[in-house]
Amino acid sequence: MTSVSHRTRAGGCPFHTAGRAASSPTGCPVSSEAATFDPFDAPYQLDPAEALRWSREQEPVFYSPKLGYWVVSRYDDIKAIFRDNLTFSPSIALEKITPPSDEALAVLKRYDYGMNRTLVNEDEPAHMARRRELLDAFTPEALEAHAPMVRRLVRDKLDAIIDRGRADLVAEMFWEVPLTVALHFLGVPEEDMEQLRRFSVAHTLNTWGRPSPEQQVEVAEGVGKFWQYSGQVLAKMQAQPHGHGWMYDMIEKNRQKPDVVTDNYLHSMMMAIIVAAHETTALATANAFRQLLSRPAVWAELCENPELIPAAAEECLRHSGSVVAWRRIATRDVEVGGVTLPEGGKILMVTASANHDPSHFENPDELDIYRDNAVDHLTFGYGSHQCMGKNLGRMEMRIFLEEFTRRLPHLELEEQAFTFLPNTSFRGPEAVWVRWDPASNPERRDPSVRTAQRDFPVGAPEARAIVRRVTVAEARPEAEGVLGVTLTDPAGRALPAWTPGSHLDVVLPTGEARKYSLCGPADSGDWRIAVLREEAGRGGSRWVHEAVREGIELRVRGPKNHFRLDESAGHHVLVAGGIGITPIIAMADRLRRLGKSFELHYAGRSRRSMAFVERLERDHGEALRLYPKDEGRRLDLAELLAEPSEGTLLYACGPERLLAALEAGTAHWPEGSLHVEHFSAEGALLDPSREHAFEVELADSELVVEVAADRTLLQTLRAAGVDVPSDCEEGLCGSCQVEVIEGEIDHRDKVLTAAERAGQDRLMSCCSRAKGKKLVLAL
Ligand code: HEM
Ligand code: FES
Repeated sequence: MTSVSHRTRAGGCPFHTAGRAASSPTGCPVSSEAATFDPFDAPYQLDPAEALRWSREQEPVFYSPKLGYWVVSRYDDIKAIFRDNLTFSPSIALEKITPPSDEALAVLKRYDYGMNRTLVNEDEPAHMARRRELLDAFTPEALEAHAPMVRRLVRDKLDAIIDRGRADLVAEMFWEVPLTVALHFLGVPEEDMEQLRRFSVAHTLNTWGRPSPEQQVEVAEGVGKFWQYSGQVLAKMQAQPHGHGWMYDMIEKNRQKPDVVTDNYLHSMMMAIIVAAHETTALATANAFRQLLSRPAVWAELCENPELIPAAAEECLRHSGSVVAWRRIATRDVEVGGVTLPEGGKILMVTASANHDPSHFENPDELDIYRDNAVDHLTFGYGSHQCMGKNLGRMEMRIFLEEFTRRLPHLELEEQAFTFLPNTSFRGPEAVWVRWDPASNPERRDPSVRTAQRDFPVGAPEARAIVRRVTVAEARPEAEGVLGVTLTDPAGRALPAWTPGSHLDVVLPTGEARKYSLCGPADSGDWRIAVLREEAGRGGSRWVHEAVREGIELRVRGPKNHFRLDESAGHHVLVAGGIGITPIIAMADRLRRLGKSFELHYAGRSRRSMAFVERLERDHGEALRLYPKDEGRRLDLAELLAEPSEGTLLYACGPERLLAALEAGTAHWPEGSLHVEHFSAEGALLDPSREHAFEVELADSELVVEVAADRTLLQTLRAAGVDVPSDCEEGLCGSCQVEVIEGEIDHRDKVLTAAERAGQDRLMSCCSRAKGKKLVLAL
């Protein structure tokens, strides 16, 4: 072990000194929580994220003497480790976490067991050379071809139980369908499925479990047989060179480039991939059904609103992923989260804990199917080794959910004690018992329900599909040409809380959406918007005025906030022009409640056309300045903005003309003083005739992609299987931001400040492009 110098958190030893019973390999005492941590104990086995809450909060990197690993629990630290696969080698990803006994080793030897590097535990440069050769089968386009097969398998299994009324879904289909899909995908002949399942369980226990000395021998028998079996299947496949499937792609590459796709790799991969491709997905599906069915209101929402299925599946992967921890080994002394790990230090990254880190996910313990950054979860890993099969796994989960929500919406979870195969990394209940009343099956009344399927595009879920149905509780004139609309939850629950500056996207019958700010009051449990009828507009506001009546249902996305109020400023100047009062009134309400100093300037044509005047006069009389044009009162911006004031922030919403004048008028104010809400994205939309193609190097994924003149960077990244969250896709929201390492950026968004743009270190991938020929991104 090399000697290390500690960088400490608070000047002393980086570990708490409460439990001196144990020490780390660096000689540092470990805290009592760290000393007692054991991933094979019940708390971790039942709920790994919860079991590591203390670590996330107090000691995000600790040495576990019981495991002999450094445990890392926070999102940013884990992502940083995934990012750097040279410093943090994946070579131990499939190592036996419990050292094997001599007897077990003897058994394995008897079977000539020689499991070695595959992809997931291969170092560079061999790994990327191999991965690039084998990526073609995983593009969203190629995967689309498998959807009908997955659909058929799920439907057949469901047909078999639909009249039964009770079933364990794991035993009936959750393991067998993903296993069959995996075999089809790989091109491996379907043989003894039960035996393959037993082999997989043995492999999981062998790699991530803590079998007792007697079990070790049994497990080694299973693993040895699995190894032999894999070799035989491989030999059979090699004898038939024209088969279809990913394994055949590998066999072909092995012929063409034996130094890149080696013989041992083929055999090791044959064994590892059967597990990787089926157990992960089987467990993920079981977790998702358990989580969704244990929240009947959420299940009901999904049945009513199946558009949400991709988002719900992703949220389940975040909330209760099937891979909960993954491993790396430090190749040099290196600091993680303020603690120096020694060269050779083994690392357990508890991704389930990262997925519950409140610094990345709001209310992380809540299963929120409307969450729009669920896709950031680390259940598929991240970076150059990120799961290649993620989009196949997603597809299977979505098809399961779609078939069940449509055909058995009245499904209920039975009271049961869930059990899990004891291991550090693969997690899902061993059984999921459900019941339903077959007499209520919708297809008994309407047989077309059986086949009325809905398909989803392959890939990460689209934020645009996260649509909520709400009921119009009230629609009444708020001012001349302004309709005030109050929205409630159809089931009578309180709608989620929101923050001032938030807006909703109201989805029109055409499928297009329009943004309307929430205008409060914020704590009423319902949502209120006010819509100005714009005759010269694109038709959205006319539709709202003509069609929206009390009792109808609307489809909305959000609330989303791209116009957040910084409440820490000493003084706020709020400026509203016309209907721009909607977010501003919510800000005024909030500042008043906080007892903060502010002034509100509100200009409009006439009092009659200005919404909320009465309420503003009542609630904000002292802070309010009204400028109705027909009364000869004019907002004098030159006077208002003459004296820049340190510690004052300006928030404005209104016509582009007003916003432009404010921007010009605050040029002499400190950078970042003015915050405006843009609702249109002029200049952000793509005009291929004026663009040039450019190359993008993805440093974390070690890929190079070409962005054509007629595609956005975001579209190109998605087509390459790289998940980037997005929302507005027109440069307004900031959710598709990507870090730039090199290259000159042509910024097209409305999110970044001038200083942020000048930094040339980030861009909005939905609209911004390269000025020159190349960009290098931290993706
Ligand atoms: C790698 C999870 C489904 C094939 C991985 C890794 C994880 C993972 C955590 C390691 C990532 C890293 O080191 O950054 C999952 C989950 C799945 C799933 C949660 C389902 C819900 C699949 C499927 C396939 C597959 C269906 C194949 C058809 C692979 C391969 C790798 C991998 C080939 C190695 C990639 C590399 O190292 O370059 N997966 N997986 N996975 N997975 Fe998956
Ligand atoms: Fe909103 Fe790109 S998705 S700025």
